Amino acid sequence: MVFGWVLKMISIKSKAEIELMKKSGEILAQALEKMKESVKPGVTTGELDRIVEDFIRSNGAIPSFKGYKGLPGAVDYPGSICASVNDEVVHGIPGLRELKDGDIISVDIGVYLNGYHADAARTFPVGNISEEAQKLIDVTRQSFYEGIKHAVDGNRIIDISIAIQDYVENNGFSVVREYVGHGIGKEMHEAPQIPNYRTRERGPRLQPGMTLAVEPMVNTGKYFVKLLENKWTVVTADGSLSAHYENTIAITDAEPIILTKI
Ligand code: MF3
Ligand code: CO
Repeated sequence: MVFGWVLKMISIKSKAEIELMKKSGEILAQALEKMKESVKPGVTTGELDRIVEDFIRSNGAIPSFKGYKGLPGAVDYPGSICASVNDEVVHGIPGLRELKDGDIISVDIGVYLNGYHADAARTFPVGNISEEAQKLIDVTRQSFYEGIKHAVDGNRIIDISIAIQDYVENNGFSVVREYVGHGIGKEMHEAPQIPNYRTRERGPRLQPGMTLAVEPMVNTGKYFVKLLENKWTVVTADGSLSAHYENTIAITDAEPIILTKI
């Protein structure tokens, strides 16, 4: 989601609510598995969208992103996935684009079931990719895990942010500033915001029952991004590659639980 601090109440979920979110998360994790098998040279991003939408609906759930309201002047979001290729950071609109050997594609999916959303993303290689692209995928994934080591009762949001930023920058890449993670539950985007870098605000304290979408977006070049004319697709300003890794997690009295995992 777009960065901008707003003071809002954070909803604390009961154990029963977290169980419901786990259901949404399981369907989402299975949809991502399907993407792992389906991403290959020659497939279009529109075909990937169709596979995911059919899968989500066949499980009695609803794709969270479809029809989501964007910026003034933008169409309501037309896809069930975001499909962001190479220099596209997030919110790539699925369509006729064919994947080529050597591309990387970030697939972001939202699932809504029984009143609760789950949100997760992965970046997949298309055929054989460069060493740099593979390192980008690996560092982005690991930065998520570095971040959630700090996602424990009593810490603050910024403890997650710092761990992600330091890991990414120590590996020579940069983290996107303008888009951040977020609370999630009955709404896809809830408080608090979760930047993947140090901000002036330390953010609220974490407590059991918070459910968060932690989603580092990492560029091989500079962190600056720009928005394309369709007012959805975000690309790196310098044309460098970008990767995305996201899971929905629940804060507990011990380790966080990853809800978007099988
Ligand atoms: N994970 C993305 C985000 O939090 C998904 C939003 S896609 C949209 O911004 F289409 F729903 F906007
Ligand atoms: Co998200």
